[in-house]
Parts: sequence; structure tokens; C-alpha cells
Amino acid sequence: MITLAVETSCDETALALYDSEKGAIGDVILSQAKVHSPFGGVVPELSAREHTRNLLPLLDLLMKRTGFDLTKIDFVSFTLTPGLILSLVVGVSFAKAVAYLYRKPLVPVHHLEGHIYSVFLEKEVEYPFLALIVSGGHTDLYLVEDFGRYTFLGGTLDDAVGESYDKVAKMLGLGYPGGPEIDRLAKKGKPLYELPRPMSDSGDLNFSFSGLKTAVMNLLKKEKNFRKEDVAASFQEAAVDILIRKTLMAVEKTGVKRVAVVGGVSANSRLRERFRQVSEERGFKLYIPSPRLSTDNALMIAYAGVLRFKRGVTAPLDVNAQPNTPLEEFAKEWS
Ligand code: KG4
Ligand code: ZN
Repeated sequence: MITLAVETSCDETALALYDSEKGAIGDVILSQAKVHSPFGGVVPELSAREHTRNLLPLLDLLMKRTGFDLTKIDFVSFTLTPGLILSLVVGVSFAKAVAYLYRKPLVPVHHLEGHIYSVFLEKEVEYPFLALIVSGGHTDLYLVEDFGRYTFLGGTLDDAVGESYDKVAKMLGLGYPGGPEIDRLAKKGKPLYELPRPMSDSGDLNFSFSGLKTAVMNLLKKEKNFRKEDVAASFQEAAVDILIRKTLMAVEKTGVKRVAVVGGVSANSRLRERFRQVSEERGFKLYIPSPRLSTDNALMIAYAGVLRFKRGVTAPLDVNAQPNTPLEEFAKEWS
């Protein structure tokens, strides 16, 4: 079966055509980074306007590139939640219009479910497995026992890790999104500064990143002659350390020896390197998508959409975007 997938939850407008038998037919992603860069972060209203401007030209581009006949799709998958509400509304409306036009079913997808299943686009993972979702909006650990069976193990109590990358990048006068900038800069620096790893010994599986961000802010005030490269490397070392410690704790607590690390921050080169190291040392299987599938894309929405459609789930034409429905709640509602 073939789906058209629509993803507009944040600042990427993404569309994909995916065949459940043969894999990806094609996908397109338009980043709005240039639009938001002057503001140092995503401006919600601008994001929605950009999605509105770009969705149809992007669909046109996807059709031209693939030569695919859109009437041949079996259903339309779309991100229902979570995300910037105005941005989601644009994508949901678009998905509904296409579904109505071609008389095809609509299949809702949770953005985090999309991220979790991004690894399956390259390699199927045996259940159960642990999923560490690290993105601009989330830092969550889930136990995944099957498609639709998710148990929340812990998450950030304040900033998401991607958000802290973006904020630290802003402090250093780097562009938006800050994650890739810090990644690049840190390669030329040394982790010379000792920064805190908040909550990493708290005994539970929750995270905190705002203290680390504040520690970087204080460091920049105190140190007059710092090299940005060294600050970036020190921050990154601490952030990755926190993620690793909590993941190891989750492996220990659950006894599950398969870990998927997904979401935009999983594109980070130091994170990938450290996770590879510890997975070998501690004997768990590690799954990280290719960087292109780590950050927001519509192929992951298509993959999760296929699994949901196979369960017989479709949405009515009056379905509406939801700003922040927890993954477990979503899975129950659409089962
Ligand atoms: O999953 P994603 O594309 O969108 C959300 O769902 O939020 O994640 C975006 C986040 C941003 O905070 C961005 O700075 C971060 O992922 N990111 C990175 C890297 N590439 C993207 N963070 C660290 N290193 C990277 N290479
Ligand atoms: Zn995302």
C-alpha cells in the first residue's frame, strides 16, 4: 500500500510518498531555518505562514521528481500532534484536502511515534526496545513493547536537549538551528570546562537541561578569553553524558538490551560516537537513524502511518490538530 505523508509540526515542511512493500518512492523537505535564523529560534506564526506558502509547490516538486500518479495513493498520513498548533493546523488541513479530493482515508500519526519508527526505515527492531527521543521539543525515554504499546519512563522537567543546544548556540552568537553549529564547532575544541550534569544521579529517569544552560551562561560571563570551540565541546560533552547515563540506567532498570536513539539531536556526531562506544562496552544493541532521518521528515510519518492503517485506524474529515497529546494517550485513542 502507498501513502502520501505530511509533516508540518515545526519548522520543516516535509512530504513523502512511501510504498509499504518497496519502501520510499520519494520525499522532500524544506527547512525554514533561514526564515527563523534572525530571531534565534522558531517564530510560530512565521512557521505556519511558510508551511502555507510551500506545501503545494513542494507537492508539485515531489510529483515531478517521482513521476508518481497521486490518484494511486491508498491513504494520506499526517502529523496530528504534538507541535506548534498553527503549523500543525496547516498540515492537517492540507492532508484533509488531499484525502477529500481523491476520496482516500486519513491516518493520524503522533510526531514522536514517527521519530521512534524512523529507525525502521533502515532496519527493523525487535520488540521490546527502549527509545530515547532527543529533539527540539522532547527528551523522553519510552519502553516500546509493540506498535502502539508505549510506556513513558522519564522525560525532561524543563528544557529539551535540542532546545539547550539551540540556546547555547544563541549565547555563542551562532546561527539557528544551533545543534549542527555546536556539533561542527565542538570538533575543533576541547572539553576544558567542567560543567554540571544536573539530575544525572537522581535515581529516576527524568532529565534536566536548564541548569546546564545556565552554567554555560555563567561561564561566559566569568571567562573573558574563552574559545567558542572549547565552550561548545564542554557543553556537548556534558549534554551527551547526561543522555548516556540515563539511558544506561533505563537499560539496567528494564533489562531491555535494544536501544533506539531518535530525533534531531541523534544526528549529533559526538552523541553517535559515545552511544556506539557504550553500547559495545555494555552489550546492548543500538539503533540510530541516518542523520537525514534523525531530523524531521515525512518518511517517518509515512512508516508509522502504514502501521496504524494496517490496524484499521482512520480519522474522520473533521479531525483537528492537537498541540500536545501525550504519546500513550494518542495510541489509546487511535487504536
Ligand atoms: O526532531 P527535530 O528535527 O525537530 C523537533 O521535533 O524538534 O529536532 C530539532 C532539534 C533542534 O534543536 C536542532 O538544533 C537539533 O535537533 N539538532 C542537533 C543536530 N542536528 C539537529 N543537535 C545536535 N547536533 C546536531 N547535529
Ligand atoms: Zn521532531
